[in-house]
Amino acid sequence: MNEKQRTESQQVKESRPTDKKSEKDYSKYFEKTYAAPSLKDAKRRGKEAVQYHNDFSISEQFRDMGKGRKFLIRTYGCQMNEHDTEVMAGIFMALGYEPTTDVKETNVILLNTCAIRENAENKVFGELGHLKALKRENPDLLIGVCGCMSQEESVVNRILQKHQFVDMIFGTHNIHRLPNILQDAYMSKEMVVEVWSKEGDIIENLPKVRKGNIKGWVNIMYGCDKFCTYCIVPFTRGKERSRRPEDIIQEVRHLAAQGYQEVTLLGQNVNAYGKDFTDMKYGLGDLMDEIRKIDIPRIRFTTSHPRDFDDRLIEVLAKGGNLVDHIHLPVQSGSSEVLKIMARKYNREQYLELVRKIKAAIPNVSLTTDIIVGYPNETEEQFEETLSLYKEVGYDAAYTFIYSPREGTPAAKMVDNVPMSVKKERLQRLNAVVNEISAQKMLEHKGQIVDVLVEGESKNNPDVLAGYTTKSKLVNFVGPKSAIGQIVKVRITDAKTWSLNGEMVDQIIEVK
Ligand code: 5AD
Ligand code: SF4
Repeated sequence: MNEKQRTESQQVKESRPTDKKSEKDYSKYFEKTYAAPSLKDAKRRGKEAVQYHNDFSISEQFRDMGKGRKFLIRTYGCQMNEHDTEVMAGIFMALGYEPTTDVKETNVILLNTCAIRENAENKVFGELGHLKALKRENPDLLIGVCGCMSQEESVVNRILQKHQFVDMIFGTHNIHRLPNILQDAYMSKEMVVEVWSKEGDIIENLPKVRKGNIKGWVNIMYGCDKFCTYCIVPFTRGKERSRRPEDIIQEVRHLAAQGYQEVTLLGQNVNAYGKDFTDMKYGLGDLMDEIRKIDIPRIRFTTSHPRDFDDRLIEVLAKGGNLVDHIHLPVQSGSSEVLKIMARKYNREQYLELVRKIKAAIPNVSLTTDIIVGYPNETEEQFEETLSLYKEVGYDAAYTFIYSPREGTPAAKMVDNVPMSVKKERLQRLNAVVNEISAQKMLEHKGQIVDVLVEGESKNNPDVLAGYTTKSKLVNFVGPKSAIGQIVKVRITDAKTWSLNGEMVDQIIEVK
């Protein structure tokens, strides 16, 4: 759907009455609002410039929509999705809805979904099964599916056919249209489907209700143009488009002024930040160099692509200060042959050279990574190259996955001769190495005094506080509740594979 068609369809919608019992011909109306996703369209990258909008507002006609109503959003997947949920919560609150965690009392449930692997999708279909019963008990409940799965044609078709109790499906590019989509869902007997397959726009002033007031997420760019052969993200999140630096800096400053202690800059491929600017040469290094001057204790960014990780960024990160000494640098495989089939656009040697440069500039750096095992036709030797690369880099931790075919991606069409039993066994072998090195890295902390950003009580023991170091290590220690939200010094007394125990050394060092 292009801009002209969209505007026309909006005009049609706005001239419709809002009475559900109206005699109007809703089938026609439904045709107008229906926009299904297309993987083919999602792949076509337009050259048109990114449009920046600063004019989001809640239309008068929607102002009372949420009065006396409650909403609940279940979020699956990555931090980008978590942050989208914060935006949707902001829109709900602006419409007058109240948040709830109780499915029995809510009026709207949204599933903000992830499409990255099959098991992520299975969880959502399982949840839809539960919601069907709830809808039977409470027919007025609105149920919506949004996020990455709704960008997939096959998912939308499956929901249309098998889960007809769902009231609305909308995509990652349609979040700002939530008020209209809700209104349509209240009016229409049909499922409301609004998924734009590709989108070049950035909407700056969407409301947000952030989860917590200690750590905040800030989008710096959207989308991905890399098209790694296994990955659904370039299809679900659209083409790369960067927010303007001044808007990002303003948002980070605002969080600093509100007392946030940590900001994570978000994007599917943050190292491509700024590549789409036509009026200036400005990259992630330049942005980080500005943001490090803001008075906020910790700045992170995720996720990096090794191919676009340039010297300017390394030079800026080496300045330290509030730029943390932890970089997540997904490698995916240690074999140049597999990396080539994955279309990662770097080989083993280039990746190791990047690691060497980073370690030379930031000697204290902690590196973590993502790895996929069991890629189509991956040989034992190729897998062993992943093990040897892992040991050579000495990562602090890794997210490890068995390859999961995603419909519409090039890898899903590849013939695969690796049995699942072999893939599982490789994952176990990799995880054994990951755990062993992680435990060693943790042990290095024993006796050290580290800065811990205290996030709250430990999940297992309310008398214990839990927080994270700059290197993203979980630390449990006994301390006063007043330390929550602050950065405190903790001496590490004990190291486990995935967490550290310690004791607080002195009083709170950062009081905001
Ligand atoms: N199968 C398995 N893992 C995948 N990832 C992305 N796509 C797939 C897939 N089809 C992993 C990559 C990525 C992380 C977010 O998820 O390792 O970095
Ligand atoms: Fe999942 Fe990727 Fe979408 Fe994040 S961007 S929710 S990881 S599919």
